[in-house]
Amino acid sequence: MTATAERLLKSSARQSYDPEVDIDWSAPVDPSLWGMQPERMSLYGTELWDGLTKEQRITLSQHEVASIASVGLWFELLLMQMMLRDLYDDDPTGAHMHYALTEVADECRHSTMFGKSIAHFGVPAYGPPRKIHRLGRLFTHVVRGPSSYASILVAEEILDTWQRELMKDERVQPITRMVARIHVLEEARHMTFARDEVRRQLEGLSRAQLVVQQNLTAQTCLMVARSLVNPKVYASVGIDPRDGRRAALGNPHYRATMQWMGEKPLAFLRENGLLPENQERVWRASLLLG
Ligand SMILES: [Fe+2]
Ligand SMILES: [Fe+2]
Repeated sequence: MTATAERLLKSSARQSYDPEVDIDWSAPVDPSLWGMQPERMSLYGTELWDGLTKEQRITLSQHEVASIASVGLWFELLLMQMMLRDLYDDDPTGAHMHYALTEVADECRHSTMFGKSIAHFGVPAYGPPRKIHRLGRLFTHVVRGPSSYASILVAEEILDTWQRELMKDERVQPITRMVARIHVLEEARHMTFARDEVRRQLEGLSRAQLVVQQNLTAQTCLMVARSLVNPKVYASVGIDPRDGRRAALGNPHYRATMQWMGEKPLAFLRENGLLPENQERVWRASLLLG
């Protein structure tokens, strides 16, 4: 554990970004470029999609990427609270605490970066639906132990898979690609840390405690995954949010995208006993499991 933390600290010192200076925020927005890769959008391939012009699809992509970024930001605020609470009893002289604080500092920069990026494109920071927003506050008090790092890992890794593809896509806005590149680089360390914490914190749990952790992980991930695309985004191109939501949930392309995003973290949870068969219904509802 300390060895991992020390390695991650060295890597952080070697390579980190400052989005304030590493992103050219004064660059003009090219309206012909996409906000995200169209094939990964929630309505791609549906009848509603067929009814949109290319300009409308690009507009929707700008709103959909803002929704995902704002939900990422919202979850970063929650995970920072969970991490800081976890650190309360930690040893301030040890590498473990030093790295965890470095990670919180990364997340502070990320949240600023996501917020600035949404503002740059002049679209709303949709965030999760209101009910989930309220529920999130409660979750930071309830989610403890391995489930906190397991849900951090799932949130980080689903976004990582999506951003790794997005950052290479030349059809996408350069600022959004750079935001993704910065995030991917720094999140690789966070995911290593999260996997380590999950394994460590699972040690010595009783059967009953494990069941609680399995439930908390599934419920937190359900909340995050289902919130990524706020249905209000559809109104930006004149689609009723309820119609858009219904079409997205039934869209085989979108379901495949969500499963692609969930593949790696869910395999990890399974290997570590955090995704038992009796929880699969919840995981399927999150769309991360087929
Ligand atoms: Fe982050
Ligand atoms: Fe992170």
